[in-house]
Amino acid sequence: MHNNGEMINVNNISVVYPGGIKALDGVSFKVPEQEIFGLLGPNGAGKTTLIMVLTTLLAPTGGKAQVNGLDVVKDKNRVRLNLGYVSQELAIDDELSGMDNLKLQAGLYHMEKAIRKPRIEEVLDLVGLSERAHDRVDTYSGGMRKRLDIACGLIHRPGILFLDEPTLGLDIQTRHEIWHYINRLREEVKMTILLTTHYMDEADSLCRRIAIIDQGSLKAIDTPDNLKKQLGGGLIIFQFDQAAASSTINQALGSLNEKEFVKEITLKNGEYRLLTDNSEEKLPLFFDALDGLKLNLKKVTLKMPSLDDVFLYYTGRQLRDESVSREQIDRVRSSMRRLRKTR
Ligand SMILES: Nc1ncnc2c1ncn2[C@@H]1O[C@H](COP(=O)(O)OP(=O)(O)OP(=O)(O)O)[C@@H](O)[C@H]1O
Ligand SMILES: [Mg+2]
Repeated sequence: MHNNGEMINVNNISVVYPGGIKALDGVSFKVPEQEIFGLLGPNGAGKTTLIMVLTTLLAPTGGKAQVNGLDVVKDKNRVRLNLGYVSQELAIDDELSGMDNLKLQAGLYHMEKAIRKPRIEEVLDLVGLSERAHDRVDTYSGGMRKRLDIACGLIHRPGILFLDEPTLGLDIQTRHEIWHYINRLREEVKMTILLTTHYMDEADSLCRRIAIIDQGSLKAIDTPDNLKKQLGGGLIIFQFDQAAASSTINQALGSLNEKEFVKEITLKNGEYRLLTDNSEEKLPLFFDALDGLKLNLKKVTLKMPSLDDVFLYYTGRQLRDESVSREQIDRVRSSMRRLRKTR
């Protein structure tokens, strides 16, 4: 397959829903093989819409997109065999065992009988559920359910996995546990993963690169570190020893103020806050400037811009974890109940 090392190639994709809502407005980006790529954005940004286009569930109004070198419109069926999709809502049946859920899933892919069993064992092992395979899902914890949901998306060994809000509404320990398994898929099975999230810490620690999406367009795309660095800023926060003479302190501040890397020094709550463009890189210069002065520092701390600052900068709004709507979490939690009723 000719994918040029790119698992996803999105070129100027737009989606206008019937009724006129423009959910995506000319989005373009590429994701190389084996990357964990995050789409970070607030409610209604267009994250799920983009995943639906890439998983062939929704035809775009404009633009082109390829998954593993295949066009998502012209080559729908082959694209589907290449990808796994775990939706925002749980899709497993909690009256069945984990094993039976996976058997159903293998059936949906018309998998040959002979390979079903080893394949099911393989995915159970990948998400750490082998021991509980024969227990009913309603005895599982929230994290185990989500892991089973992910296992269902892996049954046909896709090269790329789409995870829509994989940890929405889960507690912090469970979220870390899910992150562990997502990382494992990349490392052990060499999978490419595109996930959406509201959670800054998730994007920051799990994703190699992230795209900030807001109101249907990409505002920024890079590694979390680069996004923070590009924003500039960064503080060196320090305090002098109490015994330091005020004349020496003034001398030190004077010396620092002359240096090019120092943008501004302010005093707040007894601490000096030195503004620079990259506090980590500039720290040696800070110590050089104080060299030779008979002055002891009581403490020095660094503060880099956070991903919150980055998000605020690009969207003009703060993306707090609380912005995950209650309604949305309830929707995920009740999805299995509803699923059962409709059977
Ligand atoms: N089937 C639909 N018909 C009409 N409008 C829709 C439909 N699905 C989504 N939208 C609208 O498209 C926009 C993007 O929605 P989308 O679900 O892609 O956002 P999202 O980033 O996934 O949000 P969330 O974080 O809440 O999951 C929103 O304005 C939404 O109301
Ligand atoms: Mg969504």
